[in-house]
Amino acid sequence: MERKLNFNAGPAELPGEVLHELVKATSNYKRTGMSIVEIPHRGPEFSEILEESKALVRKLCGLSEQYEVLWLHGGGRMQFCMVPMNFLSNGKTAAYIDSGQWSKEAIEHARYYGAATIVSSSKDDRYDRLPDWPTELPDETAYLHITTNNTIYGTQWHDIPATTVPLIADMSSDILSREHNYHRYSMFYATAQKNLGVAGVALAVVHKSMLDKIVRPVPPIMSYIEQARQNSVVNTANVHGIYAALLMLRWINERGIVNIERDNRKKAAILYDLLDNSRVFKPYVADKPHRSMMNVCFTAATPELEQQFMTLAERNNITGIAGHRTAGGFRVSIYNAITIDAVATLADLMHQFERTA
Ligand SMILES: Cc1ncc(COP(=O)(O)O)c(C=O)c1O
Repeated sequence: MERKLNFNAGPAELPGEVLHELVKATSNYKRTGMSIVEIPHRGPEFSEILEESKALVRKLCGLSEQYEVLWLHGGGRMQFCMVPMNFLSNGKTAAYIDSGQWSKEAIEHARYYGAATIVSSSKDDRYDRLPDWPTELPDETAYLHITTNNTIYGTQWHDIPATTVPLIADMSSDILSREHNYHRYSMFYATAQKNLGVAGVALAVVHKSMLDKIVRPVPPIMSYIEQARQNSVVNTANVHGIYAALLMLRWINERGIVNIERDNRKKAAILYDLLDNSRVFKPYVADKPHRSMMNVCFTAATPELEQQFMTLAERNNITGIAGHRTAGGFRVSIYNAITIDAVATLADLMHQFERTA
């Protein structure tokens, strides 16, 4: 079967090698006579998967044993709940930088558990740029939360200024896509279905010192302390999803983050160069230092041209380029698994369209 060129923002395309391994494991995992979806979550095979995946996360992020690596249920939004549930209490305030729809949802979730305040926002600019870094934070700030890459609008933090409070990041759409100083964070998390595998699983990496700050009683399944104590197996773990993440981690490790970043830069440059010189297409984010290397958002000159290009793309086996329902236009997601060739093919089609439009 011919594979589509899939530029979806998530669930996103997985590398062929990873899919192949997943299919093999789905019929018979390591000759156990059981599928990966059948092996016990408290058995030796899954323990190995957990240990290897944790070691790879630490290695790829350059982190010591001072960080707990957790695999949790519920994707990104569950982390929107767990972060404030665990870290926001005792009359403290959580500070959030509002850089788009996902930050907004994170803030809304935090407000179920305490005071959450927006310390900087680019909402008035329709999120087509990053907000200013906050110069002041409320007294008694429990943590500052940022979204390192804004999947819907296509902005990304490339430099993270210093903070005096624990910094927590949603890295759902740019984790392990570039060299990055992960030490800067007291905690970071990512839903898996972009650079880390399949939906429903989230990676959460928490500095051990943060666990000492948790005072609110939290149900074990939602508690970072309990999840760390029980090695992410408080209940029946998502064995298949965590195995998919391990395959992605091995794939990233084999390539090396430096090479992954180099290719991600090339892919982004192909598209932004085209957009900056186009008469038909226009980048959503004009300010170059604010642009995402993972999600490239743009519009066409008229709604008719947008529709025509969408139809042309579909006829050429290209899928997943429609903008998010809240943003419109186009969004091309170029996560780690997307090849330079795939991006070049899309760019050729855009050039071709422009010549005839
Ligand atoms: C930056 C970011 N955070 C959070 C989420 C939500 O993830 P989930 O759908 O797993 O809840 C997404 C989903 O695309 C995202 O892009």
